[in-house]
Amino acid sequence: MSDVITAFAPASIANFGPGYGAFGLALDALGDRVSARVLPNEDVVRIVEIRADDGLLPVEAAKNTAGLAVMALREQLGKVAGVELLLCKGVPASSGLGSSAASAVAAVVAANAVLGRRLKKPELLAAACAGEVASAGVAHGDNAAASLLGGAVIYDAQGPLLLPVPTNLWLCVVWPGFAIPTVDSLAVLPDLLPRGDVVYNLANLARLVDAFHRGDAAAIGGALRDKLSEPYRLKLIPGGELLREAACSEGATGWSICGSGPAVVASASSHAAVCAASKAMCKVLENAGQRPQAWVLRPDSHGAHLLPPAEVIPFPDAL
Ligand code: HSE
Repeated sequence: MSDVITAFAPASIANFGPGYGAFGLALDALGDRVSARVLPNEDVVRIVEIRADDGLLPVEAAKNTAGLAVMALREQLGKVAGVELLLCKGVPASSGLGSSAASAVAAVVAANAVLGRRLKKPELLAAACAGEVASAGVAHGDNAAASLLGGAVIYDAQGPLLLPVPTNLWLCVVWPGFAIPTVDSLAVLPDLLPRGDVVYNLANLARLVDAFHRGDAAAIGGALRDKLSEPYRLKLIPGGELLREAACSEGATGWSICGSGPAVVASASSHAAVCAASKAMCKVLENAGQRPQAWVLRPDSHGAHLLPPAEVIPFPDAL
């Protein structure tokens, strides 16, 4: 199977707390895998199959974040061979967990490898961000930077800035079980925001960065406060207004919507506290008629990577 390479890219939380559009956190134990192989005599990017997406995602390369990202990568590399992709989804689509970025990042990492490993990881970021246009309409990089590089990442036009992540930062992510396309959750945000709300977020973001640098998991939770998107997007989640209190009453120190939702995250400095918070949030969502899925996890610290030969996912025609 040496002509096929498979990459893994982790799920991620954009807009972590007050960091709307600028702060991403990669998650371990959840991600997408993408296999790539070269099409020597073709000038195309083709997606042959998408697995575990419940038929939700487009296979046309230009409309899929993975396909669009690899198209951007080929432009960046100059004249190179075509690339064929096979996507295996692990992150639920339109969940707020960086599903589109995980596919785009895994695709560019795998494609770069089959095309001769000409670019280093940070050089792949622009192509991965370009892929996000297929789902969000904009080339945002808060999810892609975290998924590619791992850990906690501040991302803007100046490039990615990685923060140290405390080893006792525990998270529980709860997905209500339904999808909200990013374009729909963008549509509920106002164009203009009250000055006081912006100042509130600025102060919390400063606290958040300080807490990461001090390795203070409790203070990270305390800074997860947001008035730029949460008040508007909470209404899209049945029972959403009860979730923070449910998590914090069980020992979570912080709570945030994940990216553009509807998944949510609670944080704490102990595994037991996030397990209890996870159960409490699932109960709230079940009472509101949802069928939630929950993951207890930690921030991912490696980012996207190539899988060893034994874990390569072959293309269907090779079976
Ligand atoms: N982070 C932005 C948002 C861009 O949540 O609206 C899309 O993910």
